[in-house]
Amino acid sequence: MKNIHRDNLTAVVQHSFAGIGDERTRHLLEQLVGHLHAFALQTTLTHDEWRAGLGFLHEAAHITTDSRSEFSLMSDVFGLSSLVDLMSSRPGTTPGSVLGPFHARGSPWMTTPVNLLADNPGEVVLLHGSVKDEAGQPITNATIDFWQNADNGLYWQQDPEQSQDNLRCQFKVDASGCFELLTIRPKPYSIPTDGPIGELFRVSGRSQWRPAHFHIIVEAAGYQTLVTELFDPEDPYLDSDAVFGVRQALVTAYQPQNNAADMARLGLSQPYLSAEFNVVLPPARARVPSNHA
Ligand code: BEZ
Ligand code: FE
Repeated sequence: MKNIHRDNLTAVVQHSFAGIGDERTRHLLEQLVGHLHAFALQTTLTHDEWRAGLGFLHEAAHITTDSRSEFSLMSDVFGLSSLVDLMSSRPGTTPGSVLGPFHARGSPWMTTPVNLLADNPGEVVLLHGSVKDEAGQPITNATIDFWQNADNGLYWQQDPEQSQDNLRCQFKVDASGCFELLTIRPKPYSIPTDGPIGELFRVSGRSQWRPAHFHIIVEAAGYQTLVTELFDPEDPYLDSDAVFGVRQALVTAYQPQNNAADMARLGLSQPYLSAEFNVVLPPARARVPSNHA
């Protein structure tokens, strides 16, 4: 008989995964058990607290659907998503930031210069920039998947007034690795608060707001895929992002423009703002120094 007691339980549970053939998976599970048990021991977790934790997970499962994951949100608001992003970001390349729940596959393909204005109200922004490698060479086969919220702060999934293709697109950079995209200035946005995460925010007095941002996914054969966001430097929530996504390198200044020739070229009848964002992608097999986070 195996006598289970407080001092051997962790090792016994860890050993129960010894049959997992994949070494990395086995290591992750052993570490997870070790850290969970250490948490319970160090906090002297009571039955009531343990039950409350399970109840929280139960509520999260209850509200989760295919299109709305309270578990992703949990990872975001506990900073785990950002930690994984930061650990995999190679110095000298563009840092990653949270994907969020509003990325939808299959956005319409467009050609740079892209125009997403349609009949959206809001301040007009020309987002422009380039995609390059670590040596500064243009990556001419890069594609960009782009999405953002509308002037009322809502993504199309949250707003029956918006078409399902509003303010989202995919496009290839041009032959010099550059792109231009006409759109509107995004707005700050509240994370969903109708589930247990919302309750957690209410009891902790935490701000549920995300600073205004554009989302992009940059992909190119031979390079690591980048999932990131571009932030508005004038946003009041820049220092209190509910999901910890802001990085200095992702804050993109908006410059007022009123050059008549540029306005004519862009088909605009009014001044606009321009924001420049240059992406640097690491090669597919590049590693991140282990002490970098
Ligand atoms: C967003 O960018 O819209 C978002 C990101 C993480 C959690 C909730 C929303
Ligand atoms: Fe977002």
